[in-house]
Amino acid sequence: MVENFEKVQSQAQIKRTSLLARKIWQEHYTPIIGIEQVEYMLKNFQSPEAISDQLQNGAVYYLVVSAGEDSGYLALEPDPEMASAKLSKIYVLKDKRRCGLGRKTLEFAEMLCRDMGVKDLWLTVNRHNHAAIAFYRQEGFTAAETVVQDIGGGFVMDDYKMVKSLSRG
Ligand SMILES: CC(C)(COP(=O)(O)OP(=O)(O)OC[C@H]1O[C@@H](n2cnc3c(N)ncnc32)[C@H](O)[C@@H]1OP(=O)(O)O)[C@@H](O)C(=O)NCCC(=O)NCCS
Repeated sequence: MVENFEKVQSQAQIKRTSLLARKIWQEHYTPIIGIEQVEYMLKNFQSPEAISDQLQNGAVYYLVVSAGEDSGYLALEPDPEMASAKLSKIYVLKDKRRCGLGRKTLEFAEMLCRDMGVKDLWLTVNRHNHAAIAFYRQEGFTAAETVVQDIGGGFVMDDYKMVKSLSRG
């Protein structure tokens, strides 16, 4: 399968990312956190306005286009002072999973990180998101600690922090 990674910059690309987020989050997170929290998080973190704000504040988004179709996306939040970056998003459409696209997307994110001098990549993942945790473990992340975060609206995120050192590879 031929895939390419498109840096999200234009309003049209932001809109495509937001549409993918809605599709993937509703399908994947509704059984884990419920539709109300999904809608709250989509509105606050993945609307076109929210993504634009994140881009202005240093986040980097890429769309994953596979066989000519928007199939997933990633986002990084680099912290140059700490030589670290948060992998804040990595999502693949349900019907494209388990074919290696997540791994290729992570490899691409790691290449971007190395180019930026990042040594430590970290992320947070919902403690009940077992498929994603299995993926991260397989790809070399280890669980560091539990993180419970109040995100407003009466909702909390109940996550693990996972880390991967990029120094070795
Ligand atoms: C996590 C995610 C990005 C992985 O993408 P993917 O394209 O399915 O991953 P890959 O096919 O590249 O899998 C790489 C390896 O990870 C492991 N893995 C992936 N999904 C797994 C699952 N559901 N259960 C167990 N292991 C899994 C496997 O070892 C796999 O290799 P294999 O298929 O050759 O055995 C994708 O499942 C996804 O988008 N999930 C929903 C959204 C999500 O939870 N994102 C993470 C937010 S924190």
